[in-house]
Amino acid sequence: MLEKSELFQKKLFINNQFVPTASQKTFTVINPATGEVLTEVENANVTDTEHAILAAHQALANWKGTPAKQRSQYLREWFNLIKNYQTELAQLLTLEQGKPLQEAVEEISYGASFVEWFSEQAKRIEGSLLSSPQKDKELLVFQEPVGVCAAITPWNFPMAMITRKAAPALAAGCTIVIKPAEQTPLSALALAKLAQMAGIPAGVINILPADQTQSIAVGKILCESPLIKKLSFTGSTQVGRELLKQCAPTIKRCSMELGGHAPFIVFADADLDAAVSAAVTSKYRNAGQTCICSNRFYIHQSIADEFAQRLAEKASQLKVGNGLDPNNDLGPLIDQAALNKVKHHVQDAINQGAQLLTGGQIDNAGALFFQPTVVHQVKDSMLICQEETFGPVAAILSFNNEAEVITKANHPEYGLAAYFFSQNIAQIFRVAKALEYGMIGVNTGLISNEIAPFGGLKQSGFGREGSRWGIEEYLETKYLCLGGMQNYS
Ligand code: SIN
Repeated sequence: MLEKSELFQKKLFINNQFVPTASQKTFTVINPATGEVLTEVENANVTDTEHAILAAHQALANWKGTPAKQRSQYLREWFNLIKNYQTELAQLLTLEQGKPLQEAVEEISYGASFVEWFSEQAKRIEGSLLSSPQKDKELLVFQEPVGVCAAITPWNFPMAMITRKAAPALAAGCTIVIKPAEQTPLSALALAKLAQMAGIPAGVINILPADQTQSIAVGKILCESPLIKKLSFTGSTQVGRELLKQCAPTIKRCSMELGGHAPFIVFADADLDAAVSAAVTSKYRNAGQTCICSNRFYIHQSIADEFAQRLAEKASQLKVGNGLDPNNDLGPLIDQAALNKVKHHVQDAINQGAQLLTGGQIDNAGALFFQPTVVHQVKDSMLICQEETFGPVAAILSFNNEAEVITKANHPEYGLAAYFFSQNIAQIFRVAKALEYGMIGVNTGLISNEIAPFGGLKQSGFGREGSRWGIEEYLETKYLCLGGMQNYS
């Protein structure tokens, strides 16, 4: 049915047209829930990338010269269309990514919220008139678009991670070339179709789907091209590091939203019901395939067993299966490599003495479905506490006192998100300040929205997305010193 939809696009989107690739090759998009082939999509290569960059470059002068109010209106129209097509977009997203339909619907709203927010922020880009230290000078500061931008986006939020980058770029007056993840090109192309319908001018948004045979080459051109002035990437720390190296010769501006390893701390006085329910949301959203999902649950020793039992009970009630069935809470993992990693982490924990409370197996729902899992009595030395699991596994550890848990919670490498539950206001401030993370949820497991600055510390990256800070990533500050001025005083 979706195949008949105008949103079901399979070609590259360059200069406002859906075009075939110069490579004459396609790649397969698979439904991870069933293993079925959804479709073939054109596979962008280096030549296509150069065309897209040129289109974005040629569109830049006109777009950056378009009054902010008009750019805002284009974005508003794009937002309206995304909302109008929310159901179709969500179905497409579930088909190619696997998450339950309700979560997909929420992702479309979340993604659209960035377009709405930045359509409003476009009108609020402001310069300054500084107080001059000399009588004959006036000092002005302009905020100008960075130029042509590139975005490399992940498969776990195939829609929202695109709008979180493209909307501020467009609002600021930048044009953009986007390479979506190879697993999820259809959501990206559907967004392109809606941008076209919104009348966003040719070349302002360009989309280059590419599979693993082409992705590295396409990404390299995006990083190395002198026409591209900024790269925004969401993905693993390892890939972020490589992209940064490739961006170094052109001294490209970068924003990096990289891996995380979120601690979830529950202090002895916490509201246990609220903590358990937030743990479920934070851990099992998108089957644990979220950069900010909780990985290490540090529970005060006086309540650790009770918390573990209650979480295991709730986790075992979650329904695993095809996301298109509204009764299901947990979809598949994205691919075999993801599943193998999750299995390996669970096995390593069990081998080293952790206790499996629930799950731990591939689910009967299909080859890529892993049961919601809780492992208790985990130790910080286990693999699951060192590496990002990116799957539906909650690892429970216990602690004695605040100082100890802060030391343990502060990961040497990652600093994206952290969560804690406490009823003590002094403790809330103390712990929030001591945790070395870019985003902290207190008495909640859900922190993402368009108004708040999303981003990490340490090797979880730099730069912020969403919020009023998000647009600054796409703006240059230019200072003007106006001499020879005459003042009365
Ligand atoms: C991510 O996994 O990087 C995105 C999660 C979110 O925006 O909530």
